[in-house]
Amino acid sequence: MASFVTSHSKSLSGSIRVPGDKSISHRSIMLGSIATGTTRVSGFLQGEDSLATLNAFKEMGVSIERKGSDVIIQGVGMHGLKMPTNSLNLGNSGTSIRLMSGLLSAQSFNSELCGDKSLSKRPMGRVIEPLRQMGADISGPNSMPPLSINGGKTLSAIEYTLPVASAQIKSCILLAGLYSKGSTTVIENGISRDHTERMLRGFGYEVQTSPNKISIEGGGSLKACNIEVPSDISSAAFFMVAACISDDADIVLEAVNINPTRTGVIDILKLMGGNVELSNERVDAGELIADIRVRSSNLKGIQIPKKLVPLAIDEFPAIFIAASCADGETLLTGAKELRVKESDRIQVMADGLTSLGIINHVLEDGIRIVGGKFKEQTAPIESHHDHRISMAFAIASVSSDSDIKIEGVDNVKTSFPNFVALANSIGMSITESA
Ligand code: S3P
Repeated sequence: MASFVTSHSKSLSGSIRVPGDKSISHRSIMLGSIATGTTRVSGFLQGEDSLATLNAFKEMGVSIERKGSDVIIQGVGMHGLKMPTNSLNLGNSGTSIRLMSGLLSAQSFNSELCGDKSLSKRPMGRVIEPLRQMGADISGPNSMPPLSINGGKTLSAIEYTLPVASAQIKSCILLAGLYSKGSTTVIENGISRDHTERMLRGFGYEVQTSPNKISIEGGGSLKACNIEVPSDISSAAFFMVAACISDDADIVLEAVNINPTRTGVIDILKLMGGNVELSNERVDAGELIADIRVRSSNLKGIQIPKKLVPLAIDEFPAIFIAASCADGETLLTGAKELRVKESDRIQVMADGLTSLGIINHVLEDGIRIVGGKFKEQTAPIESHHDHRISMAFAIASVSSDSDIKIEGVDNVKTSFPNFVALANSIGMSITESA
């Protein structure tokens, strides 16, 4: 089990580009595979999660060639996927299993989807239920992976109100909807990331959207296109927080995706007094991107507005580190979803913060963190198979006088394979040992 030992950094500086967006990378493989023609993807995230999606589609007979972050997909069309010979192993990736459940429920063949220890404990009832309403035959023990899908079912369109703001559930239903008879509508009570809708349009598929409703008509087809994957704001977030909590930092994160459904972390850091500036905003392949300059900041504790929670859902481990270094208390509520991510991110972060001497109170749907000073750790941090827990505590050392040890960091490769090299290139001090 690999571990990090991270030490205090005097200053952070430089201009870096974090790897491609994970959500967009997954979707580029899925839609490129069922499109007609050749899709070329650049900036593809070479992380274990997106590579699990890529390998799964290869196992279903799609020819996919990868040279580093350039991927060429020979689309097989809407009905060209082949029955995989083995269970499709999606590793740690909730996005792969939930989106692919929708797509595979509509195929003529049977399939099984499985994953690692963390994925095997994640709730799948949230996709099983709407898919069964559409006529799919899908099940898993206690509604958890492995999921078994009996194909050959004719799916019918539904109108479905999401029980939680979730792009994975929404996208699962939309992908099944591509193959359903009639018009499938998803109604959202809160905003969730809209990469599926944007990318479907990029592949020439009509998607109707109004503020909280997304509809597609089944039975159409996708036309191959070129996709440039922008840098992932969820990866950039670790360095944004690192710069804010450093005594002497001035860094630039280049070409980061600032899709408005993803920018909660920027808004939250700004509300906390973060010195975060966007420049060079432009649109690239249907996604908004910008360069983000972040400098040392005097952060203050805040009550995090509930409406920002789904827009920053993956960034809370990093935001909790910012809150730990802020002046005063930070209160987060309305974030129960954090308990069913790669780990229970409320409890696991709380345990780690406690071992670093940060006072916190766990709530059912959030946490209260009293800003202070990191102390010498009482025990190594345990990541619980969660990449974002590992990286969040790795940046904490920027503002700590003592070293911080984090155990079980192999999972960082799922989303950010060159995290240590990039972090050290701007002045952080992280040593990884096997
Ligand atoms: C994702 C959606 C979010 C997010 C996950 C990626 C996606 O999950 O946490 O990391 O790519 O659709 P939920 O849909 O469960 O909120």
